[in-house]
Amino acid sequence: MIDDTNGVHDVCVVGGAGHVGAPLAVVLAAKGLRTLVYDLNRQTMGEMASGRMPFTEAGGEEMLRVALASGRLAFTAEPHGIQRSQYVVVTIGTPIDEYHNPRLHVVTRAFEVFLPFLRDGQTIILRSTVFPGVTDYLHRWLIDRGKKVLIAFCPERVVQGQGIKEIQTLTQIVSGTTPEAEESAVRLFERIAPRLVRMVPKEAEFAKLICNAYRYIQFAAANQFYMMAESAGLDYDRILRGVKQEYPRARDLPGPGFAAGPCLMKDTMQLFAFSNNQFALGQAAMSINEGLPNYVVDKIRRTRDLAQTRVGILGMAFKADVDDIRDSLAYKIGKILRFHGAKVLYSDEFAADATFVSKEELIAGSDVVIVGVPHSSYGHLKFPPGMDVINLWNIGKGGG
Ligand SMILES: NC(=O)c1ccc[n+]([C@@H]2O[C@H](COP(=O)([O-])OP(=O)(O)OC[C@H]3O[C@@H](n4cnc5c(N)ncnc54)[C@H](O)[C@@H]3O)[C@@H](O)[C@H]2O)c1
Repeated sequence: MIDDTNGVHDVCVVGGAGHVGAPLAVVLAAKGLRTLVYDLNRQTMGEMASGRMPFTEAGGEEMLRVALASGRLAFTAEPHGIQRSQYVVVTIGTPIDEYHNPRLHVVTRAFEVFLPFLRDGQTIILRSTVFPGVTDYLHRWLIDRGKKVLIAFCPERVVQGQGIKEIQTLTQIVSGTTPEAEESAVRLFERIAPRLVRMVPKEAEFAKLICNAYRYIQFAAANQFYMMAESAGLDYDRILRGVKQEYPRARDLPGPGFAAGPCLMKDTMQLFAFSNNQFALGQAAMSINEGLPNYVVDKIRRTRDLAQTRVGILGMAFKADVDDIRDSLAYKIGKILRFHGAKVLYSDEFAADATFVSKEELIAGSDVVIVGVPHSSYGHLKFPPGMDVINLWNIGKGGG
């Protein structure tokens, strides 16, 4: 089932069993394009081939079933499939290094593998988030190796877990290193997105980073206000509700919360590296957002000896109602608590881990509960009277 070796496809989604690639592949196939998922991860591809999305994705399984039933969705773990597709959309992970610099070699190493299978006239679309300039660099890199392909960059901007809907409702940024490449990318994305906006690749790369850095800075502003108000003994939730009440200019101010996950900080730091390490606002956002777990633990330590305290962390995913724990700050909180001698329990509604306990067991076995992420199902939880609950999202009290 997962070794399609002979089919002819309109699109090959490289990394098509990942968080970005899987919803895209499913939507493309459901919209009538013969789509090949090429991924190194046979397990997640196997799950998709048997009708299950590998991650929490609203509406994903319904659309996956449609795509599979149409016969237009195929899977392979071998790069050969690339040569039989008109479009090759690349959605592999693009991490930064420990000094916050982009790892360009992740892209070039992957393309070294694809190289023998790229044929003249194909359109290569980068969809992974990349450092500004990478698309132009790749264009030159491929030309130097004798490839006559079209290169485009069309970033993914969906919110994780809502990809199926947002791919089909958000404006898609499209760019190409030549007018032909841009036109070719337009022809693909106008099949699935309602509106397109054209840019040159460096603008599009920058635009994608701005989207995530701006979000990260917004969360940092909210978290800083929260820490300032709480440190002054004020109830930030009351303040925030008052501020937002019938006041449109504060509509975009988020509530406080642990701003984490694999993209927001990484992309803020890519912008930092791109600007010759001059991005004061981005750096400040990182210290505030990464400092919130320490602030929360310090708050508990003011009234309790952590060595005598059992702390439960309710929700380990990095955001609500998904199973993705990548770079979740809930684990950082757990590590700091354990460092100070606390006994720590973890629970999550979506992420599976044999060491996790149920939410009821967690509440019963803890002196203090920290809500790590506001999964919807926590809205109805009842905490025993007198229990210390650190609940930044205010779930169960009209927040969350
Ligand atoms: N997760 C998000 O919400 C999101 C949103 C927008 C953009 N992005 C960006 O999209 C990219 C991918 O992120 P993700 O969260 O989907 O990562 P992911 O790790 O979930 O998915 C990447 C997939 O690529 C596969 N893969 C890696 N190297 C490969 C190779 N050489 N050949 C074939 N398959 C390969 C992996 O097996 C995996 O299935 C990153 O650049 C990320 O910054 C992510």
